Amino acid sequence: MGACGKAQPRPVVLVGLMGAGKSSVGRRLAVALGRDFVDADDAIVAAAGMSIPDIFEVYGEPAFRDLERRVVLRLLAGEHGVIALGGGAFLDAEIRREVKRRAVSVWLRADLDTLVERTARRPGKRPLLMRGDPREILRELMERRYPVYAEADLVVDTGPGPVEQVVRQVLDRLAVSERAR
Ligand code: S3P
Repeated sequence: MGACGKAQPRPVVLVGLMGAGKSSVGRRLAVALGRDFVDADDAIVAAAGMSIPDIFEVYGEPAFRDLERRVVLRLLAGEHGVIALGGGAFLDAEIRREVKRRAVSVWLRADLDTLVERTARRPGKRPLLMRGDPREILRELMERRYPVYAEADLVVDTGPGPVEQVVRQVLDRLAVSERAR
């Protein structure tokens, strides 16, 4: 309950692979809903005082995942409107449990070509994709992660089309799911 006794709407949590458009969709979705937007990766960078590639390089992936868990659980406990998770966060069982309990989750499901094309725009940003051929890595991550992302409440397909179209689809699904509650 908020201070005025009105129930706070649940946050919308966006999940999906790197390059699915979680941040760009999330930012616009928040504007459309008149709520705030928070990017979990940015919150991790702020908490650590260093970039994600640097966290991976200096402390390793397990330390990044620990920090990610702490930051995301804190964000979920706050009264945020839209939260974009990093691609690996929903794989964590504790994060997944809290997302299910506190939020409505939307999987932005993208095809491999879209992910390869979008992630190639900023090649130094994602340490997991610097370990080999990005297309092969993304293909393998799709196989491993898509069954887990499928546990999200709603699914919206994204491709090379305009981001506004994806935002509209998310809004439509959210409206239908609210009516069904
Ligand atoms: C990761 C995705 C990244 C970032 C980190 C690890 C992953 O976030 O959290 O590089 O495991 O898929 P984006 O999905 O926002 O790129």
